[in-house]
Amino acid sequence: MKREFKKIKSVKGELKFAGDKSISHRAVFFSSMAEGKSVIKNISSSEDVKSTQRVFNELGVEFTNDNSELIVKGRGKQKFKAPLVNLDCGNSGTTARLISGLLVAQNFSSVIIGDESLSKRPMKRVIEPLSLMGGKIESANSTLPLSIQPSDSLRAIEYTLPVASAQVKSTVLIAGLHLSDETKIIEKFVTRDHTERMLGLPVNTIQNSKVVSSSENFYPTAKDYFIPGDISSAAFFIVLTLITENSELIIKDVSLNPTRIGFIELLKKMNAKIKIENVRESSNEPYGDIIVHSSNLKNIGIDDSIIPNIIDEIPVLSVAGIFAEGNFEIRNCEELRYKESDRIKAICDNMKLTGLDIEEYPDGFRISGEIKKAKVEFNSFNDHRIAMAFSVLAMMIGNESSVEGIECVGISNPTFYEQIGYVSQQ
Ligand code: S3P
Repeated sequence: MKREFKKIKSVKGELKFAGDKSISHRAVFFSSMAEGKSVIKNISSSEDVKSTQRVFNELGVEFTNDNSELIVKGRGKQKFKAPLVNLDCGNSGTTARLISGLLVAQNFSSVIIGDESLSKRPMKRVIEPLSLMGGKIESANSTLPLSIQPSDSLRAIEYTLPVASAQVKSTVLIAGLHLSDETKIIEKFVTRDHTERMLGLPVNTIQNSKVVSSSENFYPTAKDYFIPGDISSAAFFIVLTLITENSELIIKDVSLNPTRIGFIELLKKMNAKIKIENVRESSNEPYGDIIVHSSNLKNIGIDDSIIPNIIDEIPVLSVAGIFAEGNFEIRNCEELRYKESDRIKAICDNMKLTGLDIEEYPDGFRISGEIKKAKVEFNSFNDHRIAMAFSVLAMMIGNESSVEGIECVGISNPTFYEQIGYVSQQ
């Protein structure tokens, strides 16, 4: 489906977002693993989190919706039902990677599958550490399908993350929850820390590295969760407000986890007028309100160390970069090539359509020059974050500029266009 856009005049209003996708995935995992009833308030409305629920449903977990709450009847340790079908993770990398660590510790076999995009994404990063733990995983090309057999020799490991990935960290820690010895993850670049916060895992710093440990002592128990709003969904609206004249947007009750707000810190250094207020905490996760005003942005150098913390926001940050003084350049983000699409290529191909000068590197890109086209037809590459980032750009260009393939926004935010309609004046 294609959507056409008029030029936006200003952004005004107040928004609240459905629960953060990363936190919601984990709330479904931990409440399904725990024995008994847990309640999840403000769960993400994304297709990806529905994929996690579908997988746990096949494993015998019961879910009921009661108004805006999800009631989960968890199974307890190693009490899942053997699945009768392949476990379909849809488009969700987080579901596929995190469930691998849980399934290696069960006493039944299972097969993990996914859609066309997920079936191309690298799984060696989880197969390797889980096999080191004694997990039995087979895969033809280190991609889905993954076939998992029960193992009678699962053991704790110490593992230094070779890629800055919270999904890899989490799957190893989840497998470690089934062992009496301590499993340790060592990370040199800080990745999102929802798993350790929500499970209350011990975290230490040793020689500039972060060390997270898990063991059976931290196996989750039933509890209630409140999921703060999705900061990565809010990012598109924050950038749209910053780059549109005469605009002010208030975002309420949104996640402010320090490992997720790297893009806000970067934008502030770029001269963005963003205020954070009313910070509170729930399930060990900070959240609060954000107030954004139109700003005259300036491009600055982007340090390698913040890349894992801005990884999902790079598509929309690159759109902000076009409207900032100077040129936008980002390197050391090769990981973007392994997301729902090859995001470096998707960004560069779309940007080239505008007449901007684009330099594509194996690990990043540079944008310079001016937008020369009055009307541009972008492509979503069937990737939700590309669809939303280029919808923002299409609104800045106007003249019925369009994005083809917008259905995929539901992967993280099914209400994206409704919210755009609500806050934008044309
Ligand atoms: C996620 C981690 C990140 C991120 C993804 C969600 C998570 O992926 O890009 O959207 O919930 O753990 P990596 O861990 O592969 O970097």
